[in-house]
Amino acid sequence: MAQNQNPKDKQPLLKVEGLKTHFFVDGSIVRAVDQVDLEIFRGKVLGLVGESGCGKTVTALSIMGLIDEPGKIISGDIIFDGISLLSLTEDELNQIRGGRISLIFQDPQARLNPVFTIGSQIAEIFQVHYGEPRQAAFDRSVKLLETVGIPDPLDRVHAYPHELSGGQAQRVMIAMALALEPELIIADEPTTALDVTIQAQILDLMREMRGEHSTAIILITHDMAVIAGMADCVAVMYAGQIIEQAEAEQLYKKPLHPYTQDLLASIPYGLDEGPLSSIPGSSPDPRNLPTGCRYAPRCESRVEYGLKICEAKAPSLQPFSPEHSIRCWLYESAPGHKPPLLKRL
Ligand SMILES: Nc1ncnc2c1ncn2[C@@H]1O[C@H](COP(=O)(O)OP(=O)(O)O)[C@@H](O)[C@H]1O
Ligand code: SF4
Ligand SMILES: [Mg+2]
Repeated sequence: MAQNQNPKDKQPLLKVEGLKTHFFVDGSIVRAVDQVDLEIFRGKVLGLVGESGCGKTVTALSIMGLIDEPGKIISGDIIFDGISLLSLTEDELNQIRGGRISLIFQDPQARLNPVFTIGSQIAEIFQVHYGEPRQAAFDRSVKLLETVGIPDPLDRVHAYPHELSGGQAQRVMIAMALALEPELIIADEPTTALDVTIQAQILDLMREMRGEHSTAIILITHDMAVIAGMADCVAVMYAGQIIEQAEAEQLYKKPLHPYTQDLLASIPYGLDEGPLSSIPGSSPDPRNLPTGCRYAPRCESRVEYGLKICEAKAPSLQPFSPEHSIRCWLYESAPGHKPPLLKRL
């Protein structure tokens, strides 16, 4: 496909470099995102995964320029198609936001305006961005609802958000995100509140978008099972940092970081529903993070290999192979520390 011949495709569409987004609350600092590096290419799906509270939504909001007081991006850069988003004015950012990058929020019902029909909310996007007349914008809304699989769109276009099921509201959010054919969609837990059948349909819809429009998608989830078979590349986040990043197949077949291994082990095999068994212990308080590795208090490998360095010094994210990076002392050397697993791989 032409997609592979465009020199632009060799450059990442979005590059997040050393992003730190902190919240300054009651005299303490919440290090919600604390050194995140990501790259995503056109037509690819990047799965961003990690337990609740690890900083996934704050990463998404940072990319969208939606961090407000008491939060602040304190360092790093966000480069979209060669442009640093952090250097743009609010007006310039508004052109990109919604137009070239869209965010599908975690809680669709809360994001839709309760006093307007869904038809008028979608039509408004076409009216504002393309200056389309009302009727034409409305007709396009009906078409779009059909595309995202809303049954009887001519009727549903007149519905108010509270008249929609959770699955329908999520589809409307997706329709709104698709309206301007963005190059990048960030979908923040788009299926978490939905039942399994609807989940599968929404994920299918995203696959189609990627196939037809070469849309890049960042799919955020706390559930490794959701992105299996969907993501091309996976970044695993823990306590505000990326701890492992690899091509999806490689990551699922051979996870290297103890946290990724534990996350994958907590997926109940063969079950599409039911509670996930979780990893013992809890993630650290982002106001009071450990000095060394943030996973050290829960890490059994540290004990198994008798690693002293883990609690004393924080590991950095290191390339293990061109497509695989890990933040763990099992694979990194330091003065006086020999990585026990590096040579074996
Ligand atoms: N507005 C805010 N003020 C203070 N802390 C916040 C705010 N928003 C998020 N946080 C904190 O940032 C951390 C990351 O949150 P979030 O990105 O929502 O996690 P996730 O999406 O991975 O579940 C959490 O500890 C959360 O409490
Ligand atoms: S650096 Fe040490 S504590 Fe952290 S994940 Fe690796 S082995 Fe476990
Ligand atoms: Mg979240």
